[in-house]
Amino acid sequence: MVDLDFVMETITTFVVTVYYIIEGMVKAVLPTKYLPKKNIAKEKVLVTGAGSGIGRALAIHLAKLDCELILWDINEKGNEETAEEIKKFDGVVHTYTVDLSRKDEIYSTADKVKREVGDVNILVNNAGIVTGKRFLQCPDGLIEKSMSVNVMAHFWTTKAFLPSMLEKNHGHIVSIASSAGLVGVNGLADYCASKFGAVGFMEALMLETKGKHKAVDFTVVCPYFINTGLFDGVVTRFPSILPILETGYVVEKIVDAILTSQEALYIPRVIYILMAIKGLLPVKAGLLLQRFFGTTTAMDEFKGRPVKLD
Ligand SMILES: NC(=O)c1ccc[n+]([C@@H]2O[C@H](COP(=O)([O-])OP(=O)(O)OC[C@H]3O[C@@H](n4cnc5c(N)ncnc54)[C@H](O)[C@@H]3O)[C@@H](O)[C@H]2O)c1
Repeated sequence: MVDLDFVMETITTFVVTVYYIIEGMVKAVLPTKYLPKKNIAKEKVLVTGAGSGIGRALAIHLAKLDCELILWDINEKGNEETAEEIKKFDGVVHTYTVDLSRKDEIYSTADKVKREVGDVNILVNNAGIVTGKRFLQCPDGLIEKSMSVNVMAHFWTTKAFLPSMLEKNHGHIVSIASSAGLVGVNGLADYCASKFGAVGFMEALMLETKGKHKAVDFTVVCPYFINTGLFDGVVTRFPSILPILETGYVVEKIVDAILTSQEALYIPRVIYILMAIKGLLPVKAGLLLQRFFGTTTAMDEFKGRPVKLD
């Protein structure tokens, strides 16, 4: 007996997969100015880690698109400086000092935001830390801190803000992960584990929610090293293929990805090709190529930013 439902499901899956491949290819080659964009003016956008680097530049860029910004950071001074920049062009901004390694603080600050500002429409999980130590030299507390800030915090902010997005069938969750969430790097075992976690979390979340809630979007961002200071001292073996990225360029790409509801953004583009190759190769060959591209030496001169235990 032929199961007609199964046959139909197989054919539909095949046809829609081909459609998505063609759509992906068109999107990959078309400049973003030709792609349909959503209007995010007046949206309430929460950016974590807004007191520096990507978070600061992204918050300012989104405020210029007329979004209402909610800035979270443990660094009150840095956060206020970002807010001042936004106020210079009459942007609407609210600041909250919060330690993202503490679940209770995240939940209590989220409640405060809902009371004082309202429901968040776009959540950008951006705050991150790098211990930058070889695994056996990395104190347990710092490993726990990496996991808390770089991935666990994403669980708690998402639990706090996703329900109202699902209720309204309107919203966007953005995760600033890393290319270290796609490949292992020497000296970044805890960071890689946390970023692989952030990437996996977003993929599972998309599967759980995307079918029923078509207008709630998800974007996971995986950039190579950026010149914000977080990875000060790192070296890239082939700068013409894998350059240290400029903050402004990365932020432009992230904003385009938000406006076009792009599910995954790898920067630079060569990472899409490297990931496809990694997926096809046996593990030993993949590790050899990673070595060749400098993942074993990139962190040799790392200085970064100091990460303290409480
Ligand atoms: N810079 C890079 O090379 C690079 C590459 C790939 C991915 N990323 C990711 O991009 C994101 C932003 O990084 P960046 O380069 O702008 O770094 P950054 O250090 O300039 O900014 C990170 C911000 O997070 C805040 N923060 C740190 N711990 C916190 C905590 N416990 N609670 C609240 N806020 C906290 C810091 O105060 C800071 O303002 C991070 O998630 C990082 O992992 C960075």
